[in-house]
Parts: sequence; C-alpha cells; structure tokens
Amino acid sequence: MNIHIKNQQEINKMRISGYLAGEVLRKIEPYVIPGTTTEKLNQICHNYIIQKKAIPGCLGYLGFPSSICISVNEIACHGIPNKNKKLNNGDIVNIDVTVIKNQYYADTAKMFIVGKTHKIAYELCQVAKKSLYRTFPVIRPGLPISIIGQTIQNYVNTTPFSIVKEYCGHGIGTTFHEQPYILHYNYHENKVFFKPGMIFTIEPIINAGNKEVFCMDDNWTICTKDYSLSAQYEHTVLVTENGCEILTKRKNEKIQKIYFNKKK
Ligand code: MF3
Ligand code: CO
Ligand code: CO
Repeated sequence: MNIHIKNQQEINKMRISGYLAGEVLRKIEPYVIPGTTTEKLNQICHNYIIQKKAIPGCLGYLGFPSSICISVNEIACHGIPNKNKKLNNGDIVNIDVTVIKNQYYADTAKMFIVGKTHKIAYELCQVAKKSLYRTFPVIRPGLPISIIGQTIQNYVNTTPFSIVKEYCGHGIGTTFHEQPYILHYNYHENKVFFKPGMIFTIEPIINAGNKEVFCMDDNWTICTKDYSLSAQYEHTVLVTENGCEILTKRKNEKIQKIYFNKKK
C-alpha cells in the first residue's frame, strides 16, 4: 500500500489549503437562506476561492460541472448546483468544498439548516456531526485506521439512523483522492496503522431511513432509495505524534474537549 506521509513543508501547505476550505464554509453561511438558489451559492463560493488565488477542486473533476457539491434533503452527496433549485425553510443542505492552493488539496463539508427545521432533521445533522467528531479521540499513531469505522458504527448503532457504505474518506495531498481509504463502518482488517504525517478525510454519510442510495440520471447526484433525509460532515485530518489536527477546522467551529486527546 502506498500511503504518502507528508513532511513538514507539505503539512504547512496543507494547513493553508485546509484553512481556506474552512473559510469558504464559514463565509457562505449567511447566504444559505430561503429563496436562494444552489447555483447562487456555487457562484459565491467559486468567486471567493478564485479571489484567494486557489482553484475549486470539484470543477471539471471527472467532468463534474460545478465548483462545489450541494446536496439538499434526500440527496446524500455530489448534488449539482442548479439555478432552478431554490432553498426552502426547513431544508437541510450539505455543502462540500474542495480547494487546491499551491498544488495542495483540502476537502471539507458541513450541513446548513435553512430557517428552522423539524426535530428528526435536526437530530440527523447532529448525529452526522458527532459521528465525525467521535473519531478524533481515536486517531493517534499505533492504532489501526479501522478504528474510525468501528467508532462511527458503534455510535450510529445507538441511533435510529443508518450509515451509507458506498462512499469513503480518502488520503489527500497533491491528489484529490489517494490512499489510505477510510471506511465509515465496521470491517475486519487491521493492517494499516496511523502514522504521523498521514493526511486523510473522514466524511460519514448518515441517512434518516435505510442505508441504500442510488445514482440519479445526471450520473452524479446520489439520492437515498427511500427518499429519507441524509446528512454528511467532512474534515481533512492530519495524524500528529500524539493525536490529530483538524486541518479544515473553522474559526467559529466549536469542538468540545471530550472529542480530543483521550490519551492512553
Ligand atoms: N468532495 C467530495 C469528497 O468528499 C468529492 C466530490 S467529487 C465531485 O470526496 F466531482 F463531485 F465534485
Ligand atoms: Co472527501
Ligand atoms: Co468532500
């Protein structure tokens, strides 16, 4: 297996990319309101990324037509921004941003709630967020990367929700998707271990109903088979000597202490 361990110089570049990707999500927040279109949000993010002398990583990737992915309600991931798709009060919206700055990628996503939503939708977003956060304390050198999937599944099993199995986290650096691939569910394989300098994303997709999804006719948009709501959070994470660093953490993002450094 060819996992690229980043050196200090590369890590510093990834920190810059990671910060920028986080800034895009932070800056778009006030625009995610009823009546706006997903294409409008795409344009705002695109312009911001270009203005920061970076490149939107999704644009043209395997032919993807837009600069970011926007996935509303029952869309699980890879939603294509559309000038005819207006946001409504109560929608839950995933925005997934990938930037390339000085050749280095960073990839992050979060949920936005449009106006006020109902309890199940809110809970789903919370569970998706916590399923990501709960992996942070188990990332440290010496532990197997399979502990991420184990941790997510153990948690989500205590909720009424389900984990999508078709999509995974991925190593990231000067390429968008590289080894190691990070599964978000329990599996029996303990051969790959965290090492300082590894950088990968964690991006669990959680459904309110059944775990099954399908690809729509545009060959991109992934929708839940039962049309139940879906939520996803994503961060780009660096393994450090004694834990991990969240490279795409936003300035205004509160990650409680309990999600860090349960040092053995
Ligand atoms: N950002 C997605 C990920 O987390 C990939 C999107 S690929 C695109 O890996 F082409 F749809 F943009
Ligand atoms: Co990703
Ligand atoms: Co992403």
